[in-house]
Amino acid sequence: MSKYIAVAGKGGVGKTTFTALLLRQMVRREKGTSILAVDADPNANLGEALGLEVTSTISELLEQSKDPKAIPQGMPKNVFIEYKLQQSLVESKDIDLLVMGGPQGAGCYCYPNDILRKHLENIGENYDFVAVDSEAGLEHISRRTIPRIEVMFVISDSSARGIRSAGRVHELIKGLKSAVQTIYLIVTKTSEGSMKSLEEEIQRTGLTVIGDIPLDPLVVEYDLAGKPLFDLPDDAVSVQAVEAILNRAGIFN
Ligand SMILES: Nc1ncnc2c1ncn2[C@@H]1O[C@H](COP(=O)(O)OP(=O)(O)OP(=O)(O)O)[C@@H](O)[C@H]1O
Ligand SMILES: [Mg+2]
Repeated sequence: MSKYIAVAGKGGVGKTTFTALLLRQMVRREKGTSILAVDADPNANLGEALGLEVTSTISELLEQSKDPKAIPQGMPKNVFIEYKLQQSLVESKDIDLLVMGGPQGAGCYCYPNDILRKHLENIGENYDFVAVDSEAGLEHISRRTIPRIEVMFVISDSSARGIRSAGRVHELIKGLKSAVQTIYLIVTKTSEGSMKSLEEEIQRTGLTVIGDIPLDPLVVEYDLAGKPLFDLPDDAVSVQAVEAILNRAGIFN
């Protein structure tokens, strides 16, 4: 059975950075593991962090299915949508990527969303490991487009406000009644003394801290230059921190 990992948290805290490094470690540590990355953020940029080129998002493809003229004559709509969904998969040597895309236009999407849910469920089972870079509102998780989650990492930056926000994300997840098995907190962009200062705020969230990712000048440098974070060296502090977190969380077992 495939293992589903999701990454959540408010905007700009480091979700995509962590997801990219999680995938980096997975590819390097577990050779031969089949991996699906899902970018569920409307402002999708996981592809860039992984160095993969994304040509179309699922939202764009579903939008096309609303136009009857776009569907070849004689082809049932569900077959057309499934075909489009298959087309949206970005395949690479180590990782395949699905990009959900932005909010969909007006009109009812219940039907395509239903198909999308079934598609994700089916496609997900073809992989050993599925990692989801979530959007802040967790919409895909609440709508159950993502069928289940074994481990959810809630990300916060190293500010009291960030931790409180992670606490609210935690409440949101608890209220979802969706199958989230384990939830961990990760604090990012930390410097010396950050964790000590944030201790009380963290305790109030009820979340278990699985580790922190220090502010890494190499992450800043790679982002500035538009270089994929996937290519960060093994000795980068962020890479080492993520490796330690994944070991602690038992992700490689
Ligand atoms: N450990 C780190 N060290 C230095 N900079 C970092 C670190 N983690 C993230 N950043 C920087 O913080 C910014 C936001 O990171 P990222 O894009 O991963 O956040 P996000 O939560 O995915 O944001 P969004 O909600 O916009 O998708 C980026 O400029 C990134 O380079
Ligand atoms: Mg992001």
